[in-house]
Amino acid sequence: MAAESDAVHGGRRRHVLLFPLPYQGHINPMFRLAGLLHARGFSVTVFHTHFNAPDPARHPQYRFVPVPVPDGTSGPAPAAIEDVIAQILALGAACESGFRDRLAAVLEEYSRDAVACLIADAHLLPIFEVTAKLAVPTLALRTGSAACFACFLAYPMLFEKGYLPVKESQRDMPVSELTPYRVRDLMVFLGDDDRGSLRELLARAVTAVKVSSGLILNTFDALERRELEGLRRDLTVPVFDIGPLHKFSPAGDSSLLRQDRSCLDWLDARPPASALYVSFGSLACMSPRDLVETAWGIAGSGVPFLWVVRPGMVRGSAHQEQELPEGFEAATRGRGMVVAWAPQEEVLRHRAVGGFWTHNGWNSTTESVCEGVPMLCCPYFGDQMGNARYVEHVWRVGFEVGGELERGAVEAAIRRLITGKDGAEMRARAGELKKAAEECIGKGGSSCLAIDKLIAHMTSL
Ligand code: UDX
Repeated sequence: MAAESDAVHGGRRRHVLLFPLPYQGHINPMFRLAGLLHARGFSVTVFHTHFNAPDPARHPQYRFVPVPVPDGTSGPAPAAIEDVIAQILALGAACESGFRDRLAAVLEEYSRDAVACLIADAHLLPIFEVTAKLAVPTLALRTGSAACFACFLAYPMLFEKGYLPVKESQRDMPVSELTPYRVRDLMVFLGDDDRGSLRELLARAVTAVKVSSGLILNTFDALERRELEGLRRDLTVPVFDIGPLHKFSPAGDSSLLRQDRSCLDWLDARPPASALYVSFGSLACMSPRDLVETAWGIAGSGVPFLWVVRPGMVRGSAHQEQELPEGFEAATRGRGMVVAWAPQEEVLRHRAVGGFWTHNGWNSTTESVCEGVPMLCCPYFGDQMGNARYVEHVWRVGFEVGGELERGAVEAAIRRLITGKDGAEMRARAGELKKAAEECIGKGGSSCLAIDKLIAHMTSL
């Protein structure tokens, strides 16, 4: 079989080693990449922490190697983004020595020649340092957009030129070096409370990419051609735009929470493009006040909805039942469904879904784009503001709710997206982007060619 020969070298099957960052938005693309490489003949070994560990029983085709970390460095995932950043920085460092031992054992077992390379999340710089010492070629996976990584690279310049730290009066100022970003779209903390950890996180990811043997991005030419060209100019390592990964690999069962599939039956009973899907990803947390405004905005819109209320999504509460305002269920009975976690890719693919109210995590954004679903954008932190900016101003397939959440504005925004004239125009443009994505992943398309190049590169290292 031609696919088999991709990874078979000297009669031996080549091993690829993977190390995802243990958060949902990073685990999903890494497992999709695993599925893609496995289908091309690689055997896959996944290193992981106990924190947010994958379930090996759901991936019998892969080998799993747990990496011990000292007590107290991991889990549970904190609610505040500053604390998530501190946790990522601590996790990388804590893994270092355990990973060195485990990797050495794996290399001895497989024989070094049979290992093509390790692919690690770019946020795990200490892993790159270990592999360099053991002479294992390493590729970096960045799970965000090309534009987002350009922002990482530009971070020192943003401080030099005075864009950062953010001044309230400059939030709407365009960043001419990073069009179409404004200052408010940059990777900054809300409230600008950066105690240096964000700068360190971004600088480490840039170093990881620069010392790696190549950068893998879950994006595609039709979405970010200009941004990819910019990265190829600025980096000396090769850049592989092999996205959207979820379209290459079967929906990998890498969900950390149980997906409630009953919502697909509920969607089956809805007319085409009639329902709003609402989800704010795996990390974003809202205030109790915003939850109340969101709920009554959804209720007041009159639009059918499927809403993911993740346990712990509301600051200060751990139970879904406690979180929804009294009277909401009665007011929306027969018109909506609330679940703790959904099979999102399938939901977005469902013909009944007419719009997605999203936090614009990069996975959610690309999953929506690839199904031709227009978006109502409500970014929370990190790359999400920049992604929302592209959705509204570059691809024009959605718009930001904007300002403080208020039920009247929410109602109007939902109606505009699902039943409004410009919502229909955004849906049509999203349909065009869906077609462009299909061309990229089709035979001879840019992402297919990039995958071939990636595999040739991996087996040449
Ligand atoms: C985080 C950051 O928020 C994001 O900005 C960054 O790009 C990656 O890390 P997250 O909040 O998890 O990501 O959002 P996102 O990138 O959208 O990933 C969420 C993943 O969970 C998606 O693949 C989505 O399909 C999946 N999901 C989400 C479900 O399977 N079910 C749900 O109910 C909601």
